[in-house]
Amino acid sequence: MMNILFVASEIYPLVKTGGLADVAGALPIALRKKGHDVRLLMPAYLGILEKVAPIQNQINLGNPFNVGDLILLETQIIENGTPIWLLQCKSLFEREGGPYLNPEGKDFEDNHLRFAALSWAAAVLSAHGGLMGWQANILHIHDWQAGLSAAYLKSWKVNHIPIVTTVHNLRYNGSFPLEKFEDIKLSNELLSHHGIEFYGQFSTLKSALVYSDAITTVSPTYAREILTEEYGDGLDGTLRAHQHKLHGILNGVDYEQWSPKNDAEIIQNYDINTLHLKQKNKQALLQENQLDENLSQPVFGVVSRLTEQKGLDIVLEAIPNALEQGAKLVLLGSGDKELEHAFLALQEQYPQQVGVRIGYDESYSHQLQAGVDALLIPSRFEPCGLTQLYALKYGTLPVVRKTGGLADTVFEEGADPNGFVFDHANRYALTDVMNRCIKTYHNSNVWKEMQENAMRYDFSWEKTTNHWLNLYSSLIKQ
Ligand code: ADP
Ligand code: GLC
Repeated sequence: MMNILFVASEIYPLVKTGGLADVAGALPIALRKKGHDVRLLMPAYLGILEKVAPIQNQINLGNPFNVGDLILLETQIIENGTPIWLLQCKSLFEREGGPYLNPEGKDFEDNHLRFAALSWAAAVLSAHGGLMGWQANILHIHDWQAGLSAAYLKSWKVNHIPIVTTVHNLRYNGSFPLEKFEDIKLSNELLSHHGIEFYGQFSTLKSALVYSDAITTVSPTYAREILTEEYGDGLDGTLRAHQHKLHGILNGVDYEQWSPKNDAEIIQNYDINTLHLKQKNKQALLQENQLDENLSQPVFGVVSRLTEQKGLDIVLEAIPNALEQGAKLVLLGSGDKELEHAFLALQEQYPQQVGVRIGYDESYSHQLQAGVDALLIPSRFEPCGLTQLYALKYGTLPVVRKTGGLADTVFEEGADPNGFVFDHANRYALTDVMNRCIKTYHNSNVWKEMQENAMRYDFSWEKTTNHWLNLYSSLIKQ
């Protein structure tokens, strides 16, 4: 049995802005089911204490950054009993806004300090487990927000806890101007090109890549892609230098949350044997969006952060061709203001065929997955992608660009095709693939066969936990 400390800035069902939260929420549950003691560490953002069990224990870690005391609160996630430490620090975490952005949508000025504090607490907790009566055998940190944990342990010369870093998205590299380096209480020695210096700044993600014992990323294809200049976001050189410790382990799905058979958020439950019932969800979704209710035309869906990564600007270019053929589009997303406005304008232009909801809505994201026929994911890069995995389970066929985890999970060719795949991130390629999708939709036998294939694919966490356990134990043995 291993003791594993997971450190992340968002964890479902407490805080979520994207897939990281789903993974940091679900993988620990799967590992705990195998008998391992996984515990979580996350900041105590505003309002979080109302969402967890009563605090069982707490310890004051002092005031290393001169921003107020850092206090670890020990509790559990109510929904699944996973033990969690919340890092409390009023001046850093108890404020309006999201986990990273202020209410105006801008990065908090002191994000370097906020996540240095999280990382520092992670390092203390793993170096001195006795403090909280629990000693980790593995420290598993996620993304740039937890990245400095590795640098703190390194600078304290604590070498007995293997560190695993999971990169969920290399684009967010936690880089900050050098003027801020002093704030985070690390020695200047680490600030070299081989350390955490990054193009005249410092990068918390680079710190994790350099100083951890293993790097994982969330799909095999992305693990290969990030070694190239095209996908490496300036860190490909560092990754190539540390390639010997890089692994691609595909994310999974928590089918207790994402399964049309028992999803409490959707209008009509269904499964592979009652696939015809999916139509009721389609009808409800069209009604909800006040769209034309003719069910015989395909509905494309999007559930996504609206950022350059996701390639949705290409959807804006390609969609008129599909709408002219009678298809529809239902979108849920938020992010880039220009994209938000452009999709709202599209809705105005096609009020009978386009339904757009700007915002973040967990429950509606389930209804959308259940109600649409095909899910558009034309990402420029996609470390893993979870929405295509959810779509598959709902018999909703993903239309994806062949990159990262999308390339590893959606197949148009081969024995069991489960979706539609295109190569180039441009309007012509997307138009082509959408035309193929519409044509197939009107061939109902082939479509149904593909839906059944899709629903049969098993991307459960249970299938991948052994990869994690093998990796952890190999590091402990070293
Ligand atoms: P990423 O992490 O890059 O955003 P993923 O596909 O891995 O992409 O995960 C996205 C997660 O966030 C999924 O659980 C998806 O359903 C959810 N999501 C994205 N946008 C929204 C939204 N506007 N409302 C509700 N859920 C959303
Ligand atoms: C990131 C990636 C996404 C991945 C998710 C969870 O946000 O953009 O592709 O699925 O993390 O690992």
